[in-house]
Amino acid sequence: MAALLFAVTAVLLAMSHAHSLSPEEIMKRAEALQSWIIEQRREFHKTPEPGFAELKTRSRIMRFLESHNIIYRYPYAKTGLVAYIGSGKPVVALRTDMDALPIEEPEGVSYKSQNEGWMHACGHDGHMAMALGAAKLLKEAEEKGELPPGSIRIFFQPAEEGGAGGDLMIRGGALEDTEAAFAMHVMPHLPSGSVHTRPGTIMAGALSFRVTVTGRGGHAAMPHLNVDPVVAAAGLISSLQTVVSRETSPLGSGVLSITMLRAGDAYNVIPDDVMFGGTIRGLTHEHLMFMKQRLEEMAPTVAAAYGCNATVDWRLAEQPYYPPTVNDERMSSFALQTAAALLGEEQSQIAEPLMTGEDFAFFCRKVPCALLFLGIRNESAGSVHALHSPKFTMDENVLHKGAALHATLAVEYLKAFATKPSSEAAAPEPAPPAAATNSDSSAEDDEYDDGDEKDEL
Ligand SMILES: *[C@@H]1O[C@H](CO)[C@@H](O)[C@H](O)[C@H]1NC(C)=O
Ligand SMILES: *[C@@H]1O[C@H](CO)[C@@H](O)[C@H](O)[C@H]1NC(C)=O
Repeated sequence: MAALLFAVTAVLLAMSHAHSLSPEEIMKRAEALQSWIIEQRREFHKTPEPGFAELKTRSRIMRFLESHNIIYRYPYAKTGLVAYIGSGKPVVALRTDMDALPIEEPEGVSYKSQNEGWMHACGHDGHMAMALGAAKLLKEAEEKGELPPGSIRIFFQPAEEGGAGGDLMIRGGALEDTEAAFAMHVMPHLPSGSVHTRPGTIMAGALSFRVTVTGRGGHAAMPHLNVDPVVAAAGLISSLQTVVSRETSPLGSGVLSITMLRAGDAYNVIPDDVMFGGTIRGLTHEHLMFMKQRLEEMAPTVAAAYGCNATVDWRLAEQPYYPPTVNDERMSSFALQTAAALLGEEQSQIAEPLMTGEDFAFFCRKVPCALLFLGIRNESAGSVHALHSPKFTMDENVLHKGAALHATLAVEYLKAFATKPSSEAAAPEPAPPAAATNSDSSAEDDEYDDGDEKDEL
């Protein structure tokens, strides 16, 4: 019986491989969908929603999936969902984020935000449109019997902008037996239509903090009767500049930025306390933890030199820890090869890492993965403004390319990492376990999987 099954599987494998889609064919079909994909992006753009409140967004996605006979499961992470295409092994996932930013969108485009105070200024509208485009391409291929054996999951993930929706989806079981995962982020500093990724760390780990310096307020004319927290905070802020510049290797990458500062509000009153806050970023977990430790040590000791107290709050409830995003070596080179086959060698490039954070990192800690940057910089399309800027716009000419890239990554993955019916079969092997770059940080990182640990921080 088993032997017969294997034989049948082998024939099916051979058949479907013969019929399976080439990158050229996928690109051709994606080009035909270009205006449809742009339309999807504009619809998402009109209804930007906060993390864990992407309800209209989710309804739109569900309507699309239902009208295309794509099964899905929800909820994951409150407002997220997972769509399923194909069946059996191997299992590959594509991920898009769903949330918007608390930014007021200026007048300009006909599809301007209709949700006052909120804007898709980080390109997640485009990410979702590309995911829908890929879903359409892949479902059609499945129906025509062109899909290689295996399963494709599409993760629609809420709350990327600080809520760690990716972590919550994984805790909710969304990964199941997923063997590898890919995600894309549009990047306005990279030329339109180019694809960039790298093995190892591609985005930084991030933590945000708030320091409260406590003194004893009073009349500004009699400072000797008070304990001035303003001077202490100023001293502490200056001292903290030495953590990166004097205490970590110039070859390592770290950032400690103080971005907010609040003290008193009268000219002649020394306040009781001063609050300041900011963020630390590091390309390795260890680097980040070192900066965290130094901040915790310096705050009370420097404040004490001025007679004040200081406490550090890591705000994990509001802004959970994002670990560095570490791409798997095999998956990143596979993604670069696939991008080259689809878009041309010159469009597929090794990325420089960025110090921004990304909660796709949580997926990368569990399965081999690759996060890809998709360039959208295009002067003539006006697509030159930074992510998170109210002026941010997207070169929509790349959206169908992104959809084609998602679909091609999935199809090529199923081909390249096919599970052989016989255990004696030669390479390619099934999806590999996490590479060394992924596993060496996992022991400590796992502590941050634990809610209790977060409370301790
Ligand atoms: C700092 O904390 C200590 C111990 O709780 C307390 O005795 C002292 O009054 C505090 N100093 C200020 C300026 O708040
Ligand atoms: C840049 O934008 C212009 C205007 O929309 C378009 O014609 C051109 O194809 C775009 N370039 C790329 C590389 O997509």
